Amino acid sequence: MTTRETKGAAETVDGGGVQTVTVVDNRTGRTYELPITDGTIRAMDLRQIRVDDDDFGLMTYDPAFMNTASCRSGVTYLDGDRGVLRYRGYPIEQLAEHSSFLEVAYLLVHGDLPTRIELETWVEEITHHTYAHESIRRMIAEFPPDAHPMGILQAAVAGLGTVYPDAKDIDDEEGRHLQSVRLIAKMPTLGAYGYRHMRGLPVVEPRNRLSYSANFLAMMFAVGDPGFQPDPRIERALDVLFILHADHEQNCSTSAVRSVGSSQADPYASVSAGIGALYGPLHGGANEAVLRMLDRIGNVDRIPEFIAAVKERRELLMGFGHRVYKNYDPRARIIKTACDDVFAVTGVNPKLAIAQELERIALEDEFFVSRQLYPNVDFYSGLIYEALGIPPEMFTVLFAIGRTPGWVAQWREMLADPEQKISRPRQVYVGAGERDYKPVGAR
Ligand SMILES: CC(C)(COP(=O)(O)OP(=O)(O)OC[C@H]1O[C@@H](n2cnc3c(N)ncnc32)[C@H](O)[C@@H]1OP(=O)(O)O)[C@@H](O)C(=O)NCCC(=O)NCCS
Repeated sequence: MTTRETKGAAETVDGGGVQTVTVVDNRTGRTYELPITDGTIRAMDLRQIRVDDDDFGLMTYDPAFMNTASCRSGVTYLDGDRGVLRYRGYPIEQLAEHSSFLEVAYLLVHGDLPTRIELETWVEEITHHTYAHESIRRMIAEFPPDAHPMGILQAAVAGLGTVYPDAKDIDDEEGRHLQSVRLIAKMPTLGAYGYRHMRGLPVVEPRNRLSYSANFLAMMFAVGDPGFQPDPRIERALDVLFILHADHEQNCSTSAVRSVGSSQADPYASVSAGIGALYGPLHGGANEAVLRMLDRIGNVDRIPEFIAAVKERRELLMGFGHRVYKNYDPRARIIKTACDDVFAVTGVNPKLAIAQELERIALEDEFFVSRQLYPNVDFYSGLIYEALGIPPEMFTVLFAIGRTPGWVAQWREMLADPEQKISRPRQVYVGAGERDYKPVGAR
């Protein structure tokens, strides 16, 4: 193995076998050889780089985790430059075409596609845990009528932890399985309860003869109709949307789930934290923001004015851009196809023309091209939801329902990983030095 000294910078040297990087500390002239594993160096290996014995050691500074891997994960593979997304190795395009949401949920949680028997058992289990405890239903009823359904969902999921105190036993494999099933099963019920509350309608209890997606539509829309059965094309489109949202590796909400879960909180507290993160307009709230943006633009003629405002930084083109995709989001491509299927049933959403023209301009415009800003999953999903009669406040709830298997899978993987400990970033302190307290009259 060879090492070369560089001008203080780090350089990778392939020495036949173990790869390393040599770092020269120009403060001391000392060199350090750090192993490279899976394209990463261990941040803790930098701690040995010290000026003297009193020095704490070198740390990395990485606000917003732009270049820091926080875990080793086998759940989702994402190549943002090439626009590739795979769950447990399976391309998202194949899963969206051939699989069902519950099968994908099994795949994410258990690591492999189920056999027929395993799938039947899994679907049966999920279906028989769809009911929510009465106390949670009553809690939802107490929210103000204009409460945002994401706030309700976050509270309701955290509340499930009070109903299932056994969930605190996170070391029990059977218990972990039961809580995983409960979370995936109850999420549509809680989401739909929030919607019915918003509309001032009585709740519709789960209809377990229906599929996961059809049951959700029934709990949202059935009014005194025990035979409610959605159009199969709508049912399938919703199932596909859930599949597309099911996991996306270490995004903001998943990191929140892992971070809270690392304190050994129960999975309801952890997933509730994920829902809080998803609520924000830069994350799951973006689909709602896209619809509001299209409403504000109003018609195709006003697009140039809007694009000018984006370039002057007075607006964001919501549904565009992504921290990791610097190419077309593969999910956005699939959603565009799902749009056609849904609009064949519901009629075309008039905002589609505005969205398509925005996309056409943005994909040609230097401002967006040079920044590699492409449509993301949220750009078209809101149009479908709106065509289904789902109000914008509910869009992120649908995202949360879809994302739950991913959160569950990542939480379980975190617990099983012997390298994980309680999550606790470092800081660079930039506040005041030590100073003496002065009584209020002396300030
Ligand atoms: C998703 C998002 C938060 C990623 O942010 P990020 O990785 O921190 O990227 P940055 O904010 O550094 O963006 C890089 C550049 O593109 C610009 N940019 C990013 N997204 C933009 C958007 N949607 N509209 C206009 N400009 C955008 C930034 O202003 C920045 O320009 P600059 O380098 O000249 O300052 C960001 O693209 C965004 O806010 N998109 C809109 C919200 C959205 O659709 N979120 C859903 C994500 S699935």
